[in-house]
Amino acid sequence: MKIKLCLTGVLPVLVLLIVSGRLNAQSALIPIETANNALVLRVEPNKDLQTVYFGRRLATGSEYALVPSVYRQSSDPSGMFNSAYTSSGSRNLIEPAITVTHADGNYSLDLRFVSQQLTRINDDVSLLTVVLKDPVYDFEVTLYYRSYYKEDVIEQWSMIRHHEKGNVILHKFASANLHLQAGSYWLRQYHGDWAKEMQPEESRLTHGIKTLDSKLGARANLYQPPVFMVSLDRPATEDEGTVLYGGVEWSGNFRVDLEVDPQDNLRILAGINNYASPYTLAPNEAFTTPPCWYTLSDKGKGDASRKVQRWARDYKLLDGKGTRLTLLNNWESTYFDFNEARLAELLKDTKKLGVDLFLLDDGWFANKYPRNDDHAGLGDWQPNKSKLPNGISSLVKEAHADGVKFGIWVEPEMVNPKSELYEQHPDWVIKQPKREEHYFRNQLVLDLTNPKVQDFVFGVVDGLFTQNPDLAYIKWDCNAVMYNAASATLKDQSHFYVDYVRGLYKVLERLRAKYPKVPMMLCSGGGGRVDYGALQYFTEFWPSDNTDPLERIFIQWEYSYFYPAMASSNHVTDWGKQPLKFRTDVAMMGKLGFDVVVSKLSPQDLKFVQSAVSSYNSIKDVIWQGDQFRLSDPSANSVASVLYVDEGKSRSIMFNYLVNYRYGAGSLLPIRLKGLDPARNYRVSEINLYPGTSSPLEAGKVYSGDFLMKVGINPEVHAGRTSVVLMFEEAR
Ligand code: GLA
Repeated sequence: MKIKLCLTGVLPVLVLLIVSGRLNAQSALIPIETANNALVLRVEPNKDLQTVYFGRRLATGSEYALVPSVYRQSSDPSGMFNSAYTSSGSRNLIEPAITVTHADGNYSLDLRFVSQQLTRINDDVSLLTVVLKDPVYDFEVTLYYRSYYKEDVIEQWSMIRHHEKGNVILHKFASANLHLQAGSYWLRQYHGDWAKEMQPEESRLTHGIKTLDSKLGARANLYQPPVFMVSLDRPATEDEGTVLYGGVEWSGNFRVDLEVDPQDNLRILAGINNYASPYTLAPNEAFTTPPCWYTLSDKGKGDASRKVQRWARDYKLLDGKGTRLTLLNNWESTYFDFNEARLAELLKDTKKLGVDLFLLDDGWFANKYPRNDDHAGLGDWQPNKSKLPNGISSLVKEAHADGVKFGIWVEPEMVNPKSELYEQHPDWVIKQPKREEHYFRNQLVLDLTNPKVQDFVFGVVDGLFTQNPDLAYIKWDCNAVMYNAASATLKDQSHFYVDYVRGLYKVLERLRAKYPKVPMMLCSGGGGRVDYGALQYFTEFWPSDNTDPLERIFIQWEYSYFYPAMASSNHVTDWGKQPLKFRTDVAMMGKLGFDVVVSKLSPQDLKFVQSAVSSYNSIKDVIWQGDQFRLSDPSANSVASVLYVDEGKSRSIMFNYLVNYRYGAGSLLPIRLKGLDPARNYRVSEINLYPGTSSPLEAGKVYSGDFLMKVGINPEVHAGRTSVVLMFEEAR
């Protein structure tokens, strides 16, 4: 079948369900078009596959062929700088996407185009596969580009296979290999630690390679998450500039290389980290890399994040179009110190508060070495008989009788050396056999490369559900990194880091096959494992143990570039010095929960949170499914402001917080709204008012969308009103 290339004006997949075959043109284009963008590959006469364009879609597809002719950069005698998947050991001398040692010991690779196939999955999603082969060795790579038309998102990964007469060793195996051309590149990257997740840094990329990576094995994002953004030509703002967002969908060691090459172009190579991971591949075996996702916007960071958030809700986050449960968690109110009677009170408090579910945190298990602090018991998932003589099932029943649901904390991948599990299965633990153990939070990681350990971890969660069919929620924690990474059973130790994550995903897949939608929170001592590889199994994540609301404004702000609000579990706790209203208003920006001692709340505070929960229930659909607009940046202004607008543009919620406590600080100027319909009128009301206070804003005042977006509104935030939530409803 002859391929029709460069279809214009319409999504090619609407015309051709599947096109495939061998290209016979001199040099042929393969455009991957989404609503606004095009990533264009080109097959050179020598069958090299190159990236010739990644930017705004052109009106006339045939003009993509002209793109290279208008660049006057230095020459590239290798012809490899813009390779779509850069091999190594032959002509290429820059950072490769793939490096191998062949069965005969030769380390050269040269990948040439063989065929392509475009499959339409539905009206929105298509999958392009491109097969590349080495002309000398029987070695091939299939590149996958899954494009989401409406969302302008592409996911890219590769499948590596060979038919040589022995094993091949893969030394590097990237998922994506991008090539961008601009005058300058501005990277926004993140670093962190416990309680300090998503700390941003923005800098101009210089020539050479900048690497973002993790080598921690588990809790892999503790120091650096696998998401980043790159602005082209100048740092993008919320509404202006061209920006690429990207991330690796992998819950272990990742690596992103950003290389400004000798021609001043930017190459991005992203995927699993090859650190300590040469992977032996038998003939005919396939090695599939995890997807990397990316989106490009020429309308600034706000547009890019709304695209990603929409894509995540529609395709990635588990149950992204569904509902979520509000909850009361006992971690900060009791820590490990509770018993049945105390929990019975908390169940009643859950009902009193008006939230959906009570979440029992750490400390409910282990008998020989009771889990009374974080030194013992992890791994022994039997209810502790002195704290809970009647087990979990009586609590689940009691919750049911109180009219609330029940959820529970687990950390099934981990073990304290002081546990029966460790005593019984020392070979299930990740450690170097001849070396001293080294602990992170007094614990070690279980070896999920071992199928028996996979069964055990699956069994921990499955057992809880089997014994308690009404169990409604799991908080799945992961508190340790991997020191002394080695498996007692894995044949090839250098497969360890890769196979660990594959083992984890196998367990999660089994669980989701049996319990498709039970809500599960992805927690890792805070946000130590937030990525779209994991989020396909989880309904939400725990951004940080830092719940100081002032800190959370910043942390949630940064997460919001990459993840939808409905996935962000925000709990009201006693961290921070702000009043309860401020803490509640901040938590409401995502999925609301509480971790406070309800019985210690003053009558006024209790009244406030009760009414806040009921307000939240009436607006949560806008927060969960609406478009999010970051209006006023806390790192540049005294007031942080975030807006959510429903799809029909008829309701929106605006959260405003004072983040600078200096004299006179506040919303001196109006804040402009976004995303409304200029032609419609909106009635403003302030919600979440603390009992006994009134709003200085005129109740029920109507403004046009035009006014609200051009002039704005002043929420009147100042030292006496540190947080303000406004609702805008269409006035018909
Ligand atoms: C981690 C989590 C906390 C809590 C504790 C329990 O730190 O992030 O929310 O569950 O573990 O030990």
